Amino acid sequence: MFSRSVGHFDRVWRDSAEDDPMTTVSYDQRAVQIDGERTLLLSGAIHYPRSTPAQWDAMMARSRAAGLNVIETYVFWGLHERERGVFDFSGRLDLPLFCRTAQKHGLHVILRIGPYICAEINYGGFPAWLRDLPGIQLRTLNQPYMDEMEQWVRALCARMEPYFAPNGGPIIMAQIENEYNLIAETYGEQGQAYLAWSIHLGQSLELGVPWVMCVGGMPGAIETINGFYGHTMIDDHQAKHPDQPLIWTENWPGWYDIWQRGHHIRTPENVAYGVARFIAAGGTGVNYYMWHGGTNFGRDAMYLQTTSYDYDAPLDEFGFETTKSNHCARLHATLLAQRAALLTNPRATPTPLGEQQAAYAYGDLVFLCNDDTEQPATVSHAGTAYTLAPRAVLLLAGGAVLFDTAQVAAADTITRVVRPAGELAPFTFRAEPLPGARAESTAVMVAQPVEQLQLTRDRTDYCWYLTHVDVPDAQAGAGTLTLSFAADLVYVYVDGVLAAHGPARLDENRSRTDGDREALAAAIAARHFAFADFTLVNSFAIELPLTLGAGSHEIAILACALGMVKGDWQIGFENMAAEKKGLWGPVFWRSEALPGPWQLVAGLAGEQTLPLQTGGWQTGGGGMGWYRSTFARPATGAGLVLDLQSMTKGMAWLNGQCIGRYWLTPAAYPGDTWLATAVHEVGMGAPTQRYYHLPAEWLQDDNVLVLFEEQGGDPAQVQLARREEA
Ligand code: GAL
Repeated sequence: MFSRSVGHFDRVWRDSAEDDPMTTVSYDQRAVQIDGERTLLLSGAIHYPRSTPAQWDAMMARSRAAGLNVIETYVFWGLHERERGVFDFSGRLDLPLFCRTAQKHGLHVILRIGPYICAEINYGGFPAWLRDLPGIQLRTLNQPYMDEMEQWVRALCARMEPYFAPNGGPIIMAQIENEYNLIAETYGEQGQAYLAWSIHLGQSLELGVPWVMCVGGMPGAIETINGFYGHTMIDDHQAKHPDQPLIWTENWPGWYDIWQRGHHIRTPENVAYGVARFIAAGGTGVNYYMWHGGTNFGRDAMYLQTTSYDYDAPLDEFGFETTKSNHCARLHATLLAQRAALLTNPRATPTPLGEQQAAYAYGDLVFLCNDDTEQPATVSHAGTAYTLAPRAVLLLAGGAVLFDTAQVAAADTITRVVRPAGELAPFTFRAEPLPGARAESTAVMVAQPVEQLQLTRDRTDYCWYLTHVDVPDAQAGAGTLTLSFAADLVYVYVDGVLAAHGPARLDENRSRTDGDREALAAAIAARHFAFADFTLVNSFAIELPLTLGAGSHEIAILACALGMVKGDWQIGFENMAAEKKGLWGPVFWRSEALPGPWQLVAGLAGEQTLPLQTGGWQTGGGGMGWYRSTFARPATGAGLVLDLQSMTKGMAWLNGQCIGRYWLTPAAYPGDTWLATAVHEVGMGAPTQRYYHLPAEWLQDDNVLVLFEEQGGDPAQVQLARREEA
């Protein structure tokens, strides 16, 4: 029988009885063992909240057909417990169903619990309410935080208990925390003590599967690698963890997109090179992060992350095969056919074949590798000459070429195009009132602006800041409005008319929210890794040209959040608990602080009701407001695409379900240079995201589409489309 008391992670978890259908998971220095057998883990990340349950079956089938044997997902605490103590595992949050679907297709599951997960998700996976607990500091030795983390992890694991392998479920590994090394310098010994506490918490649950910790580990967990080229980290890693198998938890086959930057792509050849090269060098577990990226529905995306999380992943945003998944599938088939040779032999010692070329042999199976990024190479192996493309791996058995990572078969190439599908009825309109015109019982008076999350609790992106100012004759004219601390975007209305908005540019990594430049400089200097776009300038100051005539004016500022940060580094290495939105410092015009008081109004008047309201809409429209259209279900079983090319910025709802934020801002600024070793940016000058996913599951025979538009736009050009093979 399975014993729940086993807690050591370098041993088999239980004695397997022959008639016991349960699965044992263990590992040795070469590989993870499932039911005592070394297993080559070919895993793909699919995040359940980033698709709908109706997509899961087909996506799992495609994944299995592409040779995967594992599906990996993070667990999204912040989505499951949006309101403290209220748990939601319904719809796209149905993690048990997700696991059952994987198991039905013969796929194991790696559950990355975190609960800090990064993942380009709102607040790195934390519920927004954590921020407001008294005295909290996230991800360090802090009792209020650890109490909440423990409660959640225990509740989650109790719920998921039947799904762990020893209990007959598909989950073969679990992860606690995530990439702690990225913030380890900040928290020193306290951080390490928290990390040790985290793995002890995991162990105390006695789940009977190995724990992993990626990029920053502790004894008791397998430490794993994340990056574009796993093989470059192997030697160092193995020296630190000689008793552990080499597992690459995040093999990035593309990259996420953020607003105002280009779309990221990575070639199928380069992805296949990375995987083959890692296995050649001794890896036995690879997880594509992401295998399917999907969509950040609702307000799930982190700060600045686009609604699409396509990631240029092997399965596209809509869950379909691509050239990349086909190419990788061939590599997987080759590797799986050769797995006995791979797993019975020890990690190969390379035989140099040139300056940047080497052979790795596992019995009869040989990997010929060319790491030169520019030049092809002709190498000789066992008396035969082989030509290798730049950055390529040839897999050979008995001298015959089984697979060339640089050769994409013509039959594997898929091109998709967007074609019109169905007609939208002409849009009707309702204006969004300015806060002065709203009869609000929820308005709050403050002397000077305070940040909005205290008020909105992150249930809306929007918060109004309303004040009045008297401009004497001598002061009237052109000037600059300076918001000393504000995030993320603001619209300034003077006497009911939009007068300014900004900032023009937003960066992913910003300065500290408290404006402490010395602390920021020290933090940047202490980091072992570089982020390209750090600045010592206060990135939360917004300056806007604004002309005010003499007399009394109503100033109404709409602050608009774009998601909460995913990690300390996005706020200058301040603790994530310091995250802020809205305005949290004085506002100056011509260098004079506006005297206040200020009235704060959370949210939009129409936000709770209009996505579903049928009456009260009129023809015409313009400026900030709500647009509504209807359409009949087009004859397609698949999801649709909403082409929002002519709109500016806002949110969209399909039949009352929020499909996400939209923003047609052009890709105007270059991304981080460190990405260029693997990914390219395309589409500069065009909107970062023009097409938005309308999932099939949310379509009805008669559909209602509602847009909240912040600026204006031309809804007449909005179109329904479908994606099809060319
Ligand atoms: C990793 C992190 C992931 C994800 C990824 C980028 O550092 O662990 O959660 O954020 O970067 O997509």
